[in-house]
Amino acid sequence: MATGAVPLIAAPGVGGVDLGAVDLGLPSVIGHRGAAGLAPENTLAALRKAHAVGCRWVEIDLRLTADGALVLLHDERIDRTTNGRGRVARLPWAALQRYDAGGWFDPAFAGEPVPSLAEAIAVLGECGLGANVELKCARDRGRAIGGRAAAELTRLWPPQLPAPLLSSFVPDALDAARAAAPGIARALLLGRATPGRWGCAADLGCIAIGLDHRSLRRSVVAEIREAGYCVLAYTVNDAARARELFDWGVTSVFSDVPHLIIGTVAAGDGPDGVAPPAGRAASRQDIVS
Ligand code: G3P
Ligand code: MG
Repeated sequence: MATGAVPLIAAPGVGGVDLGAVDLGLPSVIGHRGAAGLAPENTLAALRKAHAVGCRWVEIDLRLTADGALVLLHDERIDRTTNGRGRVARLPWAALQRYDAGGWFDPAFAGEPVPSLAEAIAVLGECGLGANVELKCARDRGRAIGGRAAAELTRLWPPQLPAPLLSSFVPDALDAARAAAPGIARALLLGRATPGRWGCAADLGCIAIGLDHRSLRRSVVAEIREAGYCVLAYTVNDAARARELFDWGVTSVFSDVPHLIIGTVAAGDGPDGVAPPAGRAASRQDIVS
């Protein structure tokens, strides 16, 4: 195993639910922003849609409001995905609750609210969905969201669900999450697959690296898997491309149209059921030795 890399089963948490004591069991296909091609991204409707089309896991984007609430929003501003305007970091939770996060996508979704993390977790629990929770923030604001998200996941995560995976492009967010709840597994997001950048993931004790699928090559995937990490590829909306990525050893793809890719996996082309690479065996021994 690469120096600093942690096993698939992370160490136990510091309090609340023991989030890291079970195998994450990452699926081949993760619904991106819920299922962003089928319902308004990062809404409760999108989580339910992902479940309805067969997802076992979803990815959601998390941001901090002006008053410290954790909400599901991708962009720095609310303009694209709601009928409001402004920066999330400058709006209080009460103001955000007044906006419609569904009508822009389709009138059938008008009235969908911007969900809080707590509301999203409740729906994940109802549906039995696992989640990759991505922490979004300015480069110099990572510590606040990392600590708060880790604490809230520890407090609220339903014990019947697979343990969550926290991810971010911002190393400080992952570092703060580790400080607050070391048992929650982490993934480092990198825009492009630049060889030699995996060291940061090791420093942060990550189990996975997330990359733009357009920058992936077979050799890069092999290098990252050899280093001991799961490879997560975003955003893959084409079944043929998903098959190629799985063939290269990619662990999971994020998809806006997960139903199209799940069909591919069901046909036997996905990595579900394939053992982790050498040195990454997901045995409970990993957390007790
Ligand atoms: O976590 C994978 C992917 O969601 C990262 O990119 O911009 O869609 O959040 P983005
Ligand atoms: Mg994301």
